[in-house]
Amino acid sequence: MSYQEFLAAFAVAQGVGDVDTLLGEHAARYKFQITSRERAQNAIALLADELGVDWRGLRVLDVGCAYGAFTIELTKLGARAVGIDNNAKWLGLAAVNARGEVDAPFIDCDASAFAAREALAPHGPFDLVLLNDVLEHVYDTAGLLANLEALTTREAAVWFEVPNGLATQHVLAEGHKKIFGLSLLAPDHWPAFVATPFHIFYRRWPYFPALFGAFGFGDLRLITRNRDRDIERTRARIREDLDRIGALIAAGGQSPVVERACGYYLAEAEHDLATMAGGALYLKYRARFWKGIARKSGSTR
Ligand SMILES: C[S@@+](CC[C@H](N)C(=O)[O-])C[C@H]1O[C@@H](n2cnc3c(N)ncnc32)[C@H](O)[C@@H]1O
Repeated sequence: MSYQEFLAAFAVAQGVGDVDTLLGEHAARYKFQITSRERAQNAIALLADELGVDWRGLRVLDVGCAYGAFTIELTKLGARAVGIDNNAKWLGLAAVNARGEVDAPFIDCDASAFAAREALAPHGPFDLVLLNDVLEHVYDTAGLLANLEALTTREAAVWFEVPNGLATQHVLAEGHKKIFGLSLLAPDHWPAFVATPFHIFYRRWPYFPALFGAFGFGDLRLITRNRDRDIERTRARIREDLDRIGALIAAGGQSPVVERACGYYLAEAEHDLATMAGGALYLKYRARFWKGIARKSGSTR
């Protein structure tokens, strides 16, 4: 029932009228929000497989919890989950989402700020941290990881899902705004393409092992599966998309900044197609999201 109330409150908050309209004409636009419970359940099932954990009593910090789906679903399984976000509007919707179903804390704080430690320490130390589609929104990732290192147990794990801006599919249509070339642009160029304030920090894959490793989470395992049957398939699909990108540029009418970024991208991708192994090519150009678990036990420090 609370999920229905959440959908109704979300529809009002976004100015799209009622639930029927939200689930009808606005379904594609708000798919991420509408499917949040289902996404949470799927990620939790995957995590249970990978970690073999008993959720009961496990202390979980859901960073960037937004409407609370992961916190709620984990609480239902017996975890002591805490949702935090720096957006009060989303936290209000999380409370509606949880109402009558679970009693979980939702805390308004910036996860990168040092002050978060004081706010969260009474709920920790945490065994598991969730960063589900969050890192790409965070500017101060080092501040965030320093907090996570301080707030977690010695054997803690961090789950992350983060989009890959170099995936050909994201270059053709950026994941949030569906705009061609946007995922290749630095944040200072975003205001020319989208209503502000909004931008995404797309980072290359090596950024993440370096970041996690620097703060004690050195044992990193990628769970992203290679769905191509062989390297020829990977190469063929990348080639098709690069041709599409090339055709869009050749057709003209793109902004100079997109044209330039795509030119650099195409040159790098051609080089990689000629030199890279299949698995690496898949991760760099085909995987739209990287999912993984970083554990403290394998610390490199
Ligand atoms: C794309 S949403 C992901 C929501 C949720 N984890 C999910 O998968 O459904 C990203 C969330 O991170 C939050 N966020 C971004 N930066 C943050 C920060 N520094 N501290 C806390 N929350 C943050 C945003 O407000 C937003 O709710």
